[in-house]
Amino acid sequence: MKKIFLLMLMILTLSGCGNSAQDKTTAETAKAQVVDKTPAPTAAADKKILVVYFSRTGEEYGVGRITKGNTAIVADYIAQKLNANTFEVKAATPYPDEYEACTELAKQELESNARPAFAANVGNLAQYDTIFVGYPIWWGALPRVMMTFLEANDFSGKTIIPFCTHGGSGLAGTEREIKEACPNANVLQGLAISGRAAQNDFTAAQKDVDTWIKDLGY
Ligand SMILES: Cc1cc2nc3c(=O)[nH]c(=O)nc-3n(C[C@H](O)[C@H](O)[C@H](O)COP(=O)(O)O)c2cc1C
Repeated sequence: MKKIFLLMLMILTLSGCGNSAQDKTTAETAKAQVVDKTPAPTAAADKKILVVYFSRTGEEYGVGRITKGNTAIVADYIAQKLNANTFEVKAATPYPDEYEACTELAKQELESNARPAFAANVGNLAQYDTIFVGYPIWWGALPRVMMTFLEANDFSGKTIIPFCTHGGSGLAGTEREIKEACPNANVLQGLAISGRAAQNDFTAAQKDVDTWIKDLGY
């Protein structure tokens, strides 16, 4: 598995992650449940905050089989810390549990610049000022289903705060992808957390999240 991952990183470096514009599918727009919480009386409480994330379970790089995704762990922590609501983006057709099969599919999707459908859309985006957007790094990029989600919604005038979990790539330029998908949003500085730390050593990751959020003024 390590070999495959190293190969992925090599291919990414050589190819620069080239995308070709084809094969777009239509996103589903059914409304979904947002986990609602009452804002606490903090400085950030006057801003309505949503944490949107995509995260996979099953066999994952460096952490074995997981029942809660690395990004989901970080997303829940941010939401709990800021008393924010959460919304999980799910693919209409779930990604394979097996790591290798998932990397193959993700690679095909990236190469064809696909827009796989998501299972349900967030129904009430208009009421939020700030949206944290979380995702795993896939082949040095956002999972294509997150691109479908970002492009299907109107983030005009909103503040987007990206965060990712990864196996070594860091944010890998994904803030730029988000800016391109949401040109009228104010995209702030993102945070990259190692997937392994998120899953197995959250104390260290938590400090990074705390500092980042504080520096952003939340
Ligand atoms: C399809 C796929 C592609 C991946 N590509 C990369 C990559 O290019 N760079 C990287 O650092 N990690 C890569 N990873 C590792 C994930 O980014 C990392 O394990 C992440 O924490 C998974 O988050 P999740 O559990 O929320 O899905 C990849 C994982 C998968 C499944």
